[in-house]
Amino acid sequence: MTDRYAVIGNPIAQSKSPLIHGAFAKVTGQDIDYTKLLAPVGGFAATLDAFRAAGGRGMNVTAPFKLDAFAYATDLAPSAQMAGAVNALKFEGDKVHAQNFDGVGLVRDLVHNLACPIKGRRVLILGAGGATRGALLPLLAEHPAELVIVNRTVSKAQALAALAQQHQSGKVPVHAAAYADVAGVFDVVLNASSSSLTAELPPLPPSVFSPDCLAYDLTYGKGLTPFLKLAQQAGVTRLADGVGMLAEQAAEAFAWWRGVRPDTSGVIQQLTVPLV
Ligand code: ATR
Repeated sequence: MTDRYAVIGNPIAQSKSPLIHGAFAKVTGQDIDYTKLLAPVGGFAATLDAFRAAGGRGMNVTAPFKLDAFAYATDLAPSAQMAGAVNALKFEGDKVHAQNFDGVGLVRDLVHNLACPIKGRRVLILGAGGATRGALLPLLAEHPAELVIVNRTVSKAQALAALAQQHQSGKVPVHAAAYADVAGVFDVVLNASSSSLTAELPPLPPSVFSPDCLAYDLTYGKGLTPFLKLAQQAGVTRLADGVGMLAEQAAEAFAWWRGVRPDTSGVIQQLTVPLV
């Protein structure tokens, strides 16, 4: 019997998940059906109850339901607990297992696809919202020399830095900074703020980029965002957006559901939007 999966959100028409998981099913020979599910705001639990009752096996969760999924889950993985949000669910009887694969997807893209090791390097991450929160532990697990969180609202960066220190017993120094106070140069600069969604430029001093730096925007499909343009103008040649992260977090979910990890290169190639 074909196993059913879906991505749930509102809106949902824009989602690439069915295309990605359809491609993964093809390359791995897995028999799955993966659809888009539009749930009314306030109707997350009822929509999930119906999907599970109809035999649904798992789900990806996108905006605005990542916190609803957190509340709905019976078993939260550490990744979901740390992120405070859920992007993948697996249904087993009465159990609703929950994960957040965004951070691990980001790190896999950096280290594996982009050949950009984190170990021993200085990493700067912009933003102190959900995207940064989800990325912290997977980044720290790679043992950077230092991780600096920069945010317009410094108190939010300080809170996340404290949370990160607490969870990794202080092995990697994690600091918070205001944009005007970021000191030194960084090997990896990650834009995890939502600035690219509104085509805004974070107030980042261009002096932060080291000559062989990787500038990475977690946003996908926006071309050369103001952040990437800033990096380019500062002389950075290694630029990337979040297409690989999108594919890798999906591959993590697929492997979790199906026990087989798909190759992501075809999907990344298909979804890549030129950085111009
Ligand atoms: P997400 O879940 O995508 O991380 P979020 O939790 O709403 O979204 O957080 C958005 C983050 O982007 C915040 O850190 C926000 O900074 P503030 O906390 O100071 O508001 C940051 N952000 C949004 N627009 C920005 C901009 N134009 N420049 C810099 N940071 C921006």
